Amino acid sequence: MVKYAAVEDVLSGKHAEGSPVSIRGWIYRTRSSGGVSFVVVRDRSGVIQCTVKKGVADNSSCEAAQKALVESSIQVTGKAFQDGRAPGGWELRAEKFVVTHYGETYPITRDQSTEFLLDVRHLWLRSQKMTNVLKARHHVIRYLREFFDEQKFYEFSPPILTKSGCEGGSTLFELDYFGDKVYLTQSGQLYNEALIASLEKVFILAPTFRAEKSRTTKHLTEFWMLEVEAAHFDNEENMRLQEEMVSFVCRKMADEQSGLLKNLERKPDELTVVEPPFHCMTYEEAVDKAGIEWGDDFGAKDEVALTKGLDKPVFVKNYPLKIKPFYMEATPDGKHALNSDLFAPQGHGEIAGGSQRVWEYDKLVKRMKAEKMNLADYEWYLDLRRYGSVPHSGFGLGVERLIKWLLNLEHIRDAIPFPRVINRAYP
Ligand code: 4AD
Ligand code: MG
Repeated sequence: MVKYAAVEDVLSGKHAEGSPVSIRGWIYRTRSSGGVSFVVVRDRSGVIQCTVKKGVADNSSCEAAQKALVESSIQVTGKAFQDGRAPGGWELRAEKFVVTHYGETYPITRDQSTEFLLDVRHLWLRSQKMTNVLKARHHVIRYLREFFDEQKFYEFSPPILTKSGCEGGSTLFELDYFGDKVYLTQSGQLYNEALIASLEKVFILAPTFRAEKSRTTKHLTEFWMLEVEAAHFDNEENMRLQEEMVSFVCRKMADEQSGLLKNLERKPDELTVVEPPFHCMTYEEAVDKAGIEWGDDFGAKDEVALTKGLDKPVFVKNYPLKIKPFYMEATPDGKHALNSDLFAPQGHGEIAGGSQRVWEYDKLVKRMKAEKMNLADYEWYLDLRRYGSVPHSGFGLGVERLIKWLLNLEHIRDAIPFPRVINRAYP
């Protein structure tokens, strides 16, 4: 059986010059002149130039290399040589060039519109940029899990179909459930709260749905949220956990994925400086800084103002209770929430939101009634305040928002392979 080398190993000189090596991948670029084909081949690890030349390669290999179009899948066997003219400094001189599949004329060429690239997203994902983003996403998620595992949190899987909302009715996607109504989950928080009574410290990493009417560079209708809940934690401990989590991921990305970051034009040093303590201000201070009215929420322009010149994220804490959901615990004056929103630098927006929760039955019922919520839908949730309730806190982190900031992406849709936004659910 043929053993195939990874392109990155050939480029890093792992195979001695002139020794035989086989690779397989896809044609990234190709041109032929004077009976020689220069075929740049990509696999998941890198791109390398292969030369296919009469005399070195057999006739059928030369014909195949001349005929095969970009994105055809191929296998090449030959010898690797260092060559200053080749991109990457090494080239593979082919002796055998076999086409696994002759691709049709590839629809993606230079200078195509964003909309077109979204129509052919399934193909555009092969681009170097998206390949690098997807690798980075993999590592970010891996480091998040690693952090919570080290902190002794248990992960579990929440339901996606739910009978009731968590973040208000306006952004719920409704489904017919055998004649009954259910919704795609807006947040797994309420389920997290159920699990803390046994596992104490829990998290979930799951898809979340919001029928967001807004068309912005920060909103998806389907996104992944990391939600964390811990028994006995107050809001301050909750904030410390968030800044340690974010700093851990930044440090890991800078230390272990610097090559990937550089490919994406992000300087690892910009992530190394992200360490506790993060900046912090009260809602009132933030209102002053952004110049908005007390009681308003921060818009995109305000998020830029709040984070101007900052090298690491900033917490805004203690929002007016009336603009936050029913489950947030109040400050002693009853006017503010024991909560925080975490804003990423350079106006990348809110990456996480969390709070201490209302843990006493009477207080919770009062808040839910004030919000005119249907208590019958939340009977199970109220049970959590009937049988051994404890003070607790938690937060939700938008995975694509985090990635957008970490990689300095212009649009959140590039932080997820198949983005769902108000005007698109295809491909
Ligand atoms: O602030 P949100 O709505 O909070 C909650 O859902 C809480 N129940 C979470 C919890 O405490 N367990 O959402 C949390 C985060 C936001 O800070 C943001 O990063 C992200 O989820 N997010 C979105 N990301 C992409 N597209 C959207 N439409 C988003 N809406 C929220
Ligand atoms: Mg929020």
